[in-house]
Amino acid sequence: MKLFDVYPINDITIVKAKGSYVWDDRGEQYLDLYGGHAVISIGHTHPHWVKRIEDQLEKIAFYSNSVRIPLQQQMSDKLGKVSGKNDYQLFLCNSGAEANENALKLASFHNGRKKVVAFSRSFHGRTSLAVSATDNKNYIAPVNETDNVVFLPFNDEEALEGYFRENGEKISSVIIEGIQGVGGINVADDSFLRKIRSLCDEYGALYIADSVQCGYGRSGKFFSHDFAGVNADIYTMAKGMGNGFPVAGIIIAPHIKPKHFALGTTFGGNHLACSAALAVLEIIEEEKLMGNAVMVGKYLKDQLEDIPELKNVRGRGLMIGFDVPEELKDLKKNLLWNQKIFTGEAKPNVIRLLPSLALKKRDAEQFIESLKEEIEKILTGEKVHG
Ligand SMILES: Cc1ncc(COP(=O)(O)O)c(C=O)c1O
Repeated sequence: MKLFDVYPINDITIVKAKGSYVWDDRGEQYLDLYGGHAVISIGHTHPHWVKRIEDQLEKIAFYSNSVRIPLQQQMSDKLGKVSGKNDYQLFLCNSGAEANENALKLASFHNGRKKVVAFSRSFHGRTSLAVSATDNKNYIAPVNETDNVVFLPFNDEEALEGYFRENGEKISSVIIEGIQGVGGINVADDSFLRKIRSLCDEYGALYIADSVQCGYGRSGKFFSHDFAGVNADIYTMAKGMGNGFPVAGIIIAPHIKPKHFALGTTFGGNHLACSAALAVLEIIEEEKLMGNAVMVGKYLKDQLEDIPELKNVRGRGLMIGFDVPEELKDLKKNLLWNQKIFTGEAKPNVIRLLPSLALKKRDAEQFIESLKEEIEKILTGEKVHG
């Protein structure tokens, strides 16, 4: 049977990983500043994470949500502590799209309304409502087309206010990434997030903070939305939550009350997923990884800003993007093939850095050196393998 060919892939087979490094089947070592798409939070194959999963596997891997799973409460307590949102309630699921799907649905159950406000260049996942709230026509199948979602310009307070003034009573929720990932590392203004909060309060809508990519400490705060100093009603999480083990969730403000059967999922919150998620939180806390994200992130940003060819360096913590001019369009490819460094991208010309939150300063230094070397090679027209 053939694989369904939906992913354009690099011709590399990774067989081993440790910390911020991965190795291919020929023994070649790569520095991973892409983190498997922002998934690797505590570093590849962290020994504590491996041990927790192995130990759990020996006991029980899965049972459904029809019985008590104390690990869920343990995980929830730890998440409350590390995120600072102790009074929120946790619902566990399996992917970022599923988290957003549940958040949007829960908001609609809560206030009985249908309209969702999303923003230009947003990405919220591939399932039905999540993809309808994603600003990319290529991902929206005819069956997902709906008038229930409206797209407003990102960071435009006036447009938001205007839309609320006209339609406020119909709006169920506003969903926004604190830092847009797929859209190209665009940071939501603190004042914009505060405006969302106040308009949602005024009109009875819910504020959903999509933290699937920008959350879990990546920005230097647990949720990047926290920079604005106001709370969302629902935060959605995935990627970094399991460090590669599929686990996701939403946390829900105390004023939103649960009802049996309103939400559900077979695999969500299973024993193995909770063990992986718990290990991640323990390491984020013990190894002070949010502080590391701030420190190494600042170093990277400062260095990148000093490279005149790179434009519009932006982001927070270890979620960084910059524009690459047309003459350097091969930079990402050359970093991979010549320097053995994985980076991310966003269309049309953005390089995205989404490394493990445990990235060491010396690895960041190596990256900057390699980057300068590759820029120089392209500008001086040196022939490179591609
Ligand atoms: C901000 C954001 N939301 C949602 C998703 C969807 O997550 P998943 O691919 O786990 O469904 C992504 C994935 O890239 C994302 O970046």
